[in-house]
Amino acid sequence: MSNPHPLIIANLKANKTWEEISLWINEVGEKAQSFSGTIIVCPSFPFIVALNQIVKSKNYNIKIAAQDVSQFEQGAYTGEVAASQIANVCSYTIIGHSERRKNLNESEEMLEKKVNNAKNANIEPIFCVQGKETPIPNGINIVAYEPVFAIGTGNSDNPKNIEEVANAIKSKGNYSVIYGGSVTKNNVSNFLKEGLIDGVLVGTDSKNAQDFIAIIETSK
Ligand code: PGA
Repeated sequence: MSNPHPLIIANLKANKTWEEISLWINEVGEKAQSFSGTIIVCPSFPFIVALNQIVKSKNYNIKIAAQDVSQFEQGAYTGEVAASQIANVCSYTIIGHSERRKNLNESEEMLEKKVNNAKNANIEPIFCVQGKETPIPNGINIVAYEPVFAIGTGNSDNPKNIEEVANAIKSKGNYSVIYGGSVTKNNVSNFLKEGLIDGVLVGTDSKNAQDFIAIIETSK
């Protein structure tokens, strides 16, 4: 049986202006009300506070997440965002996305510090792994399996392999495992059926509100 309460996550990456994202949140928010799982949107930092206010004031069934937090806590770290600074405005944060591991040389040691800072701020980390060998720090509840070959390529991993990796991850601890990598409205049901995984992390196909709504509707 598929998970009746899947996590459906929109990773908007460095996309969208404020004008665009404020339209997006209202379009998705209006359609999200009857969804039994958890819808999470990960905007860029500057939009987190205002989106949180919209979601609260309109009572939308959407949680706000960060795409990252700093390895440092508050202090003299120009350009960084400490987890404790966003503690009251987001419920989750992505940590260890492969784009950051690659483009910003994020090491396992840095990621552990980020996880600790998020946990101390009561922000639930969504920890990205690229395969079943990727180390998972202590304190993680949600693991996102995101094979690099599948991200932004239109070439998603196949459900059989996802199941194998998800099982291997679940054998290491009491984790919810979600999948990310070229998830679309056309293929999402292949991943969510049969309780294979507990949700999906969507990049490209979350940019257009209607595409993301179709993913939510298919996941009901
Ligand atoms: P994609 O991105 O859906 O564009 O493959 C997923 C991700 O990077 O989280």
